Amino acid sequence: MSEAALPPGVERVLFTEEEIAARITHVAHKISLRYRDARSLKLIGVLKGSVFFLTALTRAITIPVKIDFLAISSFSDKARGSGLVRIAKDLDDPIEDEDVLLVEDIVDTGLTSRYLLQTLAGRGPNSLGICTLLDRTSRRLVQVPVEFSCFEIPDRFVVGFGLDHKQLYRNLGYIAVMNPEKGH
Ligand code: IMP
Repeated sequence: MSEAALPPGVERVLFTEEEIAARITHVAHKISLRYRDARSLKLIGVLKGSVFFLTALTRAITIPVKIDFLAISSFSDKARGSGLVRIAKDLDDPIEDEDVLLVEDIVDTGLTSRYLLQTLAGRGPNSLGICTLLDRTSRRLVQVPVEFSCFEIPDRFVVGFGLDHKQLYRNLGYIAVMNPEKGH
């Protein structure tokens, strides 16, 4: 795509729609194989960023799968980046004895995922793993077990395919590097 066609603040496309679709199909295949004998596989999406990824992933999975969602919010702006989050919307159903995959848009420092894993682990799932669209291991502060990842990304702020800057750009079909100073 020519730079002129990109929204303000969007510097360059990192992954095209076609590249994203291909990686999601590949990861969905791995998940279908890994959990083919599972009694109950549940994908848990973290609102709002992971919704686009979760729907595409679920469509490409070839074994029975359930979905549920939770939403989190930081306690305050000061607390952002400290991993201090609270559950703003909880799951609709229990996860006891189920094989659970937490579906994330991006694992960055790992603090959010660690909090969510700890919370979900207390509810007695049969297994618990993370599947993320993007992984930025260079900024990791705490180790979390990322079992499935579509793309490793550089230390740049990205938007699109669910990821936002001030709630915008989620609807871009591609993933792009953003210069927040030039955006909305
Ligand atoms: P963590 O707790 O540092 O791993 O951050 C996870 C959350 O930060 C993600 O679920 C995103 O909502 C947000 N985030 C981190 N990096 C980016 C980015 O490059 N673009 C958009 N959101 C991001």
